[in-house]
Amino acid sequence: MGPRGCASRRLAARGVTRRALARGARRGGVVVTHDEEKLADVLCVDGRIAAVGANLDVPSDARVIDADGLLIMPGGIDPHTHMELPFMGTVASEDFFTGTSAAAAGGTTTIIDFVIPAPQQNLLEAYHTWRGWAEKSACDYSFHVAVTWWDDTVHADMGTLTREHGVNSFKHFMAYKNAIMCDDETLVNSFARCNELGAIPTVHAENGELVFRLQKEMYERGYVGPEGHPLSRPPEVEGEAANSAIRIAEVLGVPLYLVHTSCEDALEAVRRARSEGQRVFAEVLAQHLVIDDSVYRNPDWSFAAHHVMSPPFRSKRHQGLLWKGLQSGLIHTTATDHCCFCTPQKAMGKDDFRKIPNGTGGVEDRMSVLWSEGVETGMLTPSEFVAVTSTNAAKIFNIFPRKGSVSVGADADLVLWDPKGTRTISAKTHHQKIDFNVYEGMEVTGIPAYTLSQGDVVWENGELKTQRGKGRYIDRPCYPTYWKNQQRRNEVAVPEKVVRAAYTGPVA
Ligand code: URP
Ligand code: ZN
Ligand code: ZN
Ligand code: ZN
Repeated sequence: MGPRGCASRRLAARGVTRRALARGARRGGVVVTHDEEKLADVLCVDGRIAAVGANLDVPSDARVIDADGLLIMPGGIDPHTHMELPFMGTVASEDFFTGTSAAAAGGTTTIIDFVIPAPQQNLLEAYHTWRGWAEKSACDYSFHVAVTWWDDTVHADMGTLTREHGVNSFKHFMAYKNAIMCDDETLVNSFARCNELGAIPTVHAENGELVFRLQKEMYERGYVGPEGHPLSRPPEVEGEAANSAIRIAEVLGVPLYLVHTSCEDALEAVRRARSEGQRVFAEVLAQHLVIDDSVYRNPDWSFAAHHVMSPPFRSKRHQGLLWKGLQSGLIHTTATDHCCFCTPQKAMGKDDFRKIPNGTGGVEDRMSVLWSEGVETGMLTPSEFVAVTSTNAAKIFNIFPRKGSVSVGADADLVLWDPKGTRTISAKTHHQKIDFNVYEGMEVTGIPAYTLSQGDVVWENGELKTQRGKGRYIDRPCYPTYWKNQQRRNEVAVPEKVVRAAYTGPVA
């Protein structure tokens, strides 16, 4: 029977009980969530999870998928992608259909992409443009909206986006001067507006003025190739911006989410803030966890250029600290910043590294890289893996338990994970629309055997079955639980007014 062969679209991912295992029956499917592992069947009906439990009665019209030896986990959530983004004079090669399909091939069933209005562009207009582009998505998606400039219409549109369009997070690029960089005035106004709305500000933390200056200096000193890129964006540049954004968020009483944290300097800012009780969340990219800065010294220009992304890859020392951050809970989410540019696009900067479009791919590979390098190495438990690849993002961006959980009523977005399956990553075989893969040749252990989106099988034993336009836009309401707590803190922190008699003496 085909994946959508049942009229009522029932589907069961079936395991058996431990008792049956003792009697020599097949091993069952282990449901792994962020907080438990248990042997169970999962029944999906009409796109939702209808039951989770041992030995469920399977409706006669249901397709039964044998989850023998597989782990049944919530589908991955990638909270940071850029499909078909117009950026640095070109457009990212991966579109919403190919990108969400590649995501499904890797076990990711939801992406949160970014609406990035040009300076002076109306936010709602940009939002609707991106919504149009995303209609071809194969899996569910949502949008953060970037605030790149400020005036009263931006203030008003942020309100409309939260009230009428399910947007609960706003992005601020502290880098990319003369393009989408947001100055301090915009940042402060937007953070304050997030406070009024119960929305979450997020930042790309790099001091754009410093980057601009260092880029010019490096270019003039003759570092015109990709090696100039990391030289103009040292860890201090990221640490400075991270600390600045965190302090601004603290003063204005808003939580903060830092995207693509790549180095010790930024992590230290997060650690200090959290140790003081501030609600700061950090994201790390799978790429930053396993690729180091030696790539920029590769004699092959194209290879080096394909690693030009911001923040840049760092030394192994920083990488080790990022893993420790994930292990200790200092870093909450993993993402990809999937932003694909093919070789001819990268070549726009063949004589000047500043013109190389910034971005790397990886939406298909994140889950396997995390399992292989995180779980197989003993650094993360399977439940911790679920937390950092899915559940934490769902909680922070307020779509839990609809997403990021295996519970009754949740969307039937599941990955049936083969923890011992292997794959060699290559641009020759990947499903991403880019002619390069930053993980080329890497052998990973841990692959999706099946991916289910809305209860439909969209990836099955190496074959994509996604449908163009099947993905839905996911509304994300404001005021997640931690924001309500932040609100209480803000109320409690209001200083008492001083009541005193009016001064009646002489005034100079
Ligand atoms: O280099 C990157 N990361 N490109 C995409 C835009 C961004 O900064 O997230
Ligand atoms: Zn509208
Ligand atoms: Zn960024
Ligand atoms: Zn990004």
